[in-house]
Amino acid sequence: MDTPAITYNDKVVRQFTVMTVVWGIVGMLVGCIIAAQLAWPQLNFDIAWLSYGRLRPLHTNAVIFAFGGCALFASSYYVVQRTCHVPLVSHSLAAFTFWGWQAIIVAAAITLPLGITTSKEYAELEWPIDVAITFVWLAYALVFFGTIWQRRVKHIYVANWFFGAFILTVAVLHVVNSAAIPVTMFKSYSVYAGVQDAMVQWWYGHNAVGFFLTAGFLGIMYYFIPKQVGKPIYSYRLSIVHFWALIFTYMWAGPHHLHYTALPDWAQSLGMVFSLILLAPSWGGMINGIMTLSGAWDRLRTDPILKFLIVSLSFYGMSTFEGPMMSIKTVNALSHYTDWTVGHVHSGALGWVAMISIGCVYFLIPKLFGQKEMYSTKLITVHFWVMTIGIVLYIAAMWIAGVMQGLMWRAVNDDGTLTYTFVESVKATYPYYVVRLLGGVLVLSGMFVMAYNVARTIAAGRSFNAPIPAPAVHAHA
Ligand code: HEM
Ligand code: HEM
Repeated sequence: MDTPAITYNDKVVRQFTVMTVVWGIVGMLVGCIIAAQLAWPQLNFDIAWLSYGRLRPLHTNAVIFAFGGCALFASSYYVVQRTCHVPLVSHSLAAFTFWGWQAIIVAAAITLPLGITTSKEYAELEWPIDVAITFVWLAYALVFFGTIWQRRVKHIYVANWFFGAFILTVAVLHVVNSAAIPVTMFKSYSVYAGVQDAMVQWWYGHNAVGFFLTAGFLGIMYYFIPKQVGKPIYSYRLSIVHFWALIFTYMWAGPHHLHYTALPDWAQSLGMVFSLILLAPSWGGMINGIMTLSGAWDRLRTDPILKFLIVSLSFYGMSTFEGPMMSIKTVNALSHYTDWTVGHVHSGALGWVAMISIGCVYFLIPKLFGQKEMYSTKLITVHFWVMTIGIVLYIAAMWIAGVMQGLMWRAVNDDGTLTYTFVESVKATYPYYVVRLLGGVLVLSGMFVMAYNVARTIAAGRSFNAPIPAPAVHAHA
């Protein structure tokens, strides 16, 4: 008797993938606007909700949680089904995560420009939205772990370990850091005070980097690089060591955000030491991803999707070398408060997070819409080069500006007075802000090229839910 073909739930993957492109454009557009405002403050137009202070958190929330978040939902739902050989455990809960997450993004896009904020960086959203995030995240955890629970392949592939760690840790971080006492619908106060508040905030902030901006995207790396290369991951053993070393070490590194503050000195040093150790697992992961290409290096010449995936790892290696260096107290004394930090952020956020997400979207779109490949491979190559040049302009400008600022602020004359006034350092930074904007505009233009390519591929295709391969089902049972 014929059994009806069971198919994967690719509808929700399609929805999240398309929204990755949409929110990527919105977030990076706002990034360009604030970059322009730093160069030409008149662009605030004296309108409160267009002011830099309100648009900046809009940018960070849009790129991290809307763009990055949608890429993570899409890829984790795609990967968990393929590696477990079962459809998502609940279609309605999966749909709830999609619509819930979009509603939260829209709520953020309305409240932040209105000035409604907790003022905690990367956790600015007020308490009713925080409650909504908790429910959506719970549903996400149920769908993801429920699917793993029902799996028909005994082994749990390492990509799922990274996605799982990301989901669990973000749940804990969000609930602990957002604990607050509501005063009105739009105002609450953190339950923590003083230095404890700072410590909890940066325990959250750093692990948001470690788990939202890193672990989840490593999940993408462990599935999509081997798939795109057509070879297994370079070392499975290394991937397990990488996993445990990374998640153990990240947890302790948060205090490097609070050097030379009221935080006890021993806690700052502990954060520094763990940050230095973090270089090892980070590079272990990068090497594992890049070496997967060994024997197939020539593919890099012809396959622009692979270019995105592999170059993202190079940026990952760069930012995870730079981070530990910046965590050394004496280096941080120079870099903190300067644009060097912003350069570091974007070599991680644009070079690593955005590039790997974009590679993943180019991988997914044809498969999700029943096409063999993207509408235009040439346009993917154009996107790759425009984006790479844009990122290099952005981070090089910020490095130079940052080191210059740090040196100008600490320069003293023989009589002990400061050599430069603060405003002189602002004036000296001006050209670099213009170069950064140029870099940002290039990155944004690449996103429009991508949107066109994606739209043409979708128009030529149809929604396609891949069947679940039957024979492999009992292979390991
Ligand atoms: C077109 C691309 C982009 C442009 C032009 C841009 C521009 C900016 C600007 C001007 C700032 C404020 C810097 C400051 O306050 O001095 C900023 C901050 C930030 N951006 Fe972007 N950005 C872009 C893409 C991204 C992406 C894709 C991500 C994340 C995935 C990201 C994450 C962040 C973060 C986390 C901050 C806060 C940095 C900090 O507090 O040190 N950005 N961005
Ligand atoms: C081994 C890995 C890493 C270490 C040890 C590290 C360390 C650091 C240090 C020391 C700072 C400066 C803190 C300050 O002076 O205020 C910093 C800032 C930052 N890093 Fe990293 N970093 C690492 C990797 C990454 C990656 C891969 C990303 C992005 C994907 C990233 C995103 C950020 C962000 C967003 C900030 C700015 C936070 C803020 O002040 O708002 N980091 N990091």
